[in-house]
Amino acid sequence: MGEQFEIHPHPQPVAPAEREALLANPGFGRVFTDHMVTIKYAEGKGWYDARVEARAPIPMDPATAVLHYAQEIFEGLKAYRLADGGVGLFRIDANAARFQDSAVRMAMAPLPADLFIGAVRELVAIDGQWIPSLPEGSLYLRPFQFASEVFLGVRPAKEYLFGVIASPVGAYFSGGVKPVSIWVTRDYTRAAPGGTGAAKCGGNYATSLVAQAEAIEHGCDQVVFLDAVELKYIDELGGMNVFLVLDDGTLVTPPLTGTILPGITRDSLLTMAAAEGRPVQERLISLDEWREGARSGRIAESFACGTAAVLTPIGTVRSREEEFTIGDGQTGPVTAALRTALMDIQWGRTTDRHGWMTRLS
Ligand code: PLP
Ligand code: COI
Repeated sequence: MGEQFEIHPHPQPVAPAEREALLANPGFGRVFTDHMVTIKYAEGKGWYDARVEARAPIPMDPATAVLHYAQEIFEGLKAYRLADGGVGLFRIDANAARFQDSAVRMAMAPLPADLFIGAVRELVAIDGQWIPSLPEGSLYLRPFQFASEVFLGVRPAKEYLFGVIASPVGAYFSGGVKPVSIWVTRDYTRAAPGGTGAAKCGGNYATSLVAQAEAIEHGCDQVVFLDAVELKYIDELGGMNVFLVLDDGTLVTPPLTGTILPGITRDSLLTMAAAEGRPVQERLISLDEWREGARSGRIAESFACGTAAVLTPIGTVRSREEEFTIGDGQTGPVTAALRTALMDIQWGRTTDRHGWMTRLS
């Protein structure tokens, strides 16, 4: 595109006192900043009209393709208030690359990484006062892209809108870092081989909701999906990857076979563990192994991880047939140590030896 972002500051941003009140207890995904970034795409023209402007509704024709065929993708990353007062982003290159991979899977025009990164930087620059200074607070950034062409034929759209919005957040789970209970669904699967499991498309989340509702009905916090072919192996949660910690300290997580999201937190933990000499295994984990391992003590800890949830210990696992507890049902020491180590990098409290942080100020 080569073109700069056109910047139109909000004529009436939220007043500082009101903003501070909102930042005191933002929850997750319900408070939004003053601005948004948008970039348009049309076949033959490429990406154009990059703008930073007041956050506002996006008017849509009722025949806009995304409303019918769900050609839509998104990302999730955070801007952190660093220990020295600056602002940093964690692994934005990885989010930009995954956004392109998701676009390709959904037959959409991939956004060049420099525009993805530029858009996020512009938004954090203009809305930087919205980064909460709470201990676990950050500014959650939500890039997204959808088919904006007004057309009802079933084919890849020729027009897209890319946008980024930002939401100050506290902890994802309102209870803090206490262990969650997990429901194993056998009635619903999330992604089959050849499907869209590895893409961050809205449709994956739409299909997960009924299973998540089933989890809540059964008194659990989150749902875990099994593989769609044999209903035997653990895939992932609705919005998080899964790890086990063996009694010898080995980290085990399901492999990237195309049915789970290649989580950036997942990749970071594997990299950090390997760098400190901790054994890591990417391999299939059956529900039987999880249950037997929890009972015998071979599996000492389990946790879920992702940008929104960071690391969240899994305390109990329940299905229609059974229930088992991991360890003593509390946060295990390896989970706690990895969580601290990751957050220390993200909040700039330790050396960024992997070169993961992008400093914005
Ligand atoms: N799995 C799913 C389905 C997700 O939505 C997420 C969240 O983005 C993750 C895993 C974790 O990915 P990441 O660590 O990149 O946030
Ligand atoms: C994230 O961790 O960024 C997610 O996308 C999970 C969920 C909020 C959809």
